[in-house]
Amino acid sequence: MCGIVGYVGNKQALDVVLEGLRRLEYRGYDSAGVALAVDGTLATAKRSGKLANLEKTLAETPLPASTTGLGHTRWATHGPPTDRNAHPHLDTAGRVGVVHNGIIENFAQLRSELEDSGVAFESDTDTEVVSHLLAAEFGSPGVGHDLAEAMRRVCRRLEGAFTLVAMHSDVPDAVVAARRNSPLVVGLGDGENFLASDVSAFIGHTREALEVGDGQVVEITRDGVTVTDFAGRECQPGRYHVDWDASAAEKGGFDHFMLKEIAEQPKAVADTLLGRIDEAGRLHLDEMRLSDDELRDVDKIIVIACGTAFHAGLVAKYAIEHWTRVPCEVELASEFRYRDPIVDRQTLVLAISQSGETMDTLMAVRHAREQGARVLAISNTNGATIPRESDAVLYTRAGPEVAVASTKAHLTQLVACYLVALYLGQLRGTKWGDEIRWVVRELAELPAKVEHVLQTVQPVRDLAASLRDKGSVLFIGRHVGYPVALEGALKLKELAYMHAEGFAAGELKHGPIALIEPGVPVVVIVPSPRGRDVLHDKVVSNIQEIRARGALTVVIAEEGDDAVKPYADHLVTLPECPTLLQPVLATVPLQVFAAEMARLRGFDVDQPRNLAKSVTVE
Ligand code: F6R
Repeated sequence: MCGIVGYVGNKQALDVVLEGLRRLEYRGYDSAGVALAVDGTLATAKRSGKLANLEKTLAETPLPASTTGLGHTRWATHGPPTDRNAHPHLDTAGRVGVVHNGIIENFAQLRSELEDSGVAFESDTDTEVVSHLLAAEFGSPGVGHDLAEAMRRVCRRLEGAFTLVAMHSDVPDAVVAARRNSPLVVGLGDGENFLASDVSAFIGHTREALEVGDGQVVEITRDGVTVTDFAGRECQPGRYHVDWDASAAEKGGFDHFMLKEIAEQPKAVADTLLGRIDEAGRLHLDEMRLSDDELRDVDKIIVIACGTAFHAGLVAKYAIEHWTRVPCEVELASEFRYRDPIVDRQTLVLAISQSGETMDTLMAVRHAREQGARVLAISNTNGATIPRESDAVLYTRAGPEVAVASTKAHLTQLVACYLVALYLGQLRGTKWGDEIRWVVRELAELPAKVEHVLQTVQPVRDLAASLRDKGSVLFIGRHVGYPVALEGALKLKELAYMHAEGFAAGELKHGPIALIEPGVPVVVIVPSPRGRDVLHDKVVSNIQEIRARGALTVVIAEEGDDAVKPYADHLVTLPECPTLLQPVLATVPLQVFAAEMARLRGFDVDQPRNLAKSVTVE
């Protein structure tokens, strides 16, 4: 939710920290702040609003030089997004500086204890209790000047989810961090070390990283990294090499990250297929760490995810049930554990999460595992908490996704779901080899077809210009076109702040058709006419029904689908593709439509209001 950075080294800490915050701003942009260790004190600056506000302040009033620092970019939970509530938060003497991502659930009780002992609070945040608690522990018997030990003692008193990064003016060459249910990685440099919410923050300096486990405290100095659990026992964190570089986290000539990420989709889809299908058209997903016997044993699949990832899950259900004949449910992760779901050892839970850190999904994963289910994560982030806590993982290979609205990660989630479904079909013998080979050939053609959609998408931008003043846009589809409709509506809501709703086309007549009045744009996703005729023909009938009531129809259909032409006020065509795979193509014009609409209406394409990319609170 929030982005945090810590640095100790030989460079100017402020430059390193600000560069990290720029890369992490997608996590929250309600305020930003930094603290530096300077001559036995802490120098701080913080401002509400985007990082640019802080940078302006720092340009007007520079901070002294320092090689130790920390920083924060905030997505507000406790207290409004003001200067006062911006992190870092200091103790009363201004010697401890703390930044935090997450929620400290028992902060009210801790705050009243501290207030009873005479501490005056400066902010409305839950974070500030940590600054005062650390100040009280630091220097106490058994702690002395050991900031990591002070942090361990404080963490044992905290409830909730948190990543904390802290400095003390008396220990100017160290930064300490702790994590519970919130992300934290260490970057290993030469004579310098880094702490951050994710590796993009320090990718310009090092590609070597350590995974910090849950319930651990890290201390970084110029030359070393020490990791312990909250009880003080030493831990051996896993080390990994990041296989992308700084240029992947830059805009690369595009005006917005989202546009760059939309353009990267052919490659992202191709990369996600790479090496997972052999020349004979057989799938190889050995990396998943689930044995063939375990997968044959599965008698139910439950997909859990949030937002756009949930829409990928809805598509997965069609593919899984069709190719494997195993019953599949799809559930919003935030609802899953609260309904007492029926889950056992023969249940395979598919947890889809780009970030691998979404708290709702993580909690659902834990619940499923507690009930005995096997969990297979589909994630875009190596070493994130959800893949680490799952029994198995299939990584999507979209590369870093910076824009808050998910695009390339979503397309690769779809592809990963197809791979899992086909693999199960292959393993369980529910699909003939030649049927699998046919789908595999179609999958292999997707990158070129997505590229074709991108090359021919200009009319969609023009369409956005003509619809920019509409009050509402509706989206309808059947079968896998229904999740595509939901995704199209979500993208338009979150980016262009327009009222948008997605419906199953067959449901229209059960109520929503009352919303149709002359001129209301309705985007219709039409399945392939070469697939199941009934499905296609039913959607064509739905277009006629809404058009008869005055809707302005925007029809997304396969090239050569003559049946839709008479009823389409605007026609967007897609290359031929089996209906089950069509979401990979049909989603792309909807992404472009939403991004263009946001641009035309003057909104921030990469950082829509009130949102954050990685939602690490429930
Ligand atoms: C919408 C969007 C969100 C995410 C959701 C889940 O464009 O990006 O709806 O899909 O917050 O995030 P992950 O996949 O990281 O779990």
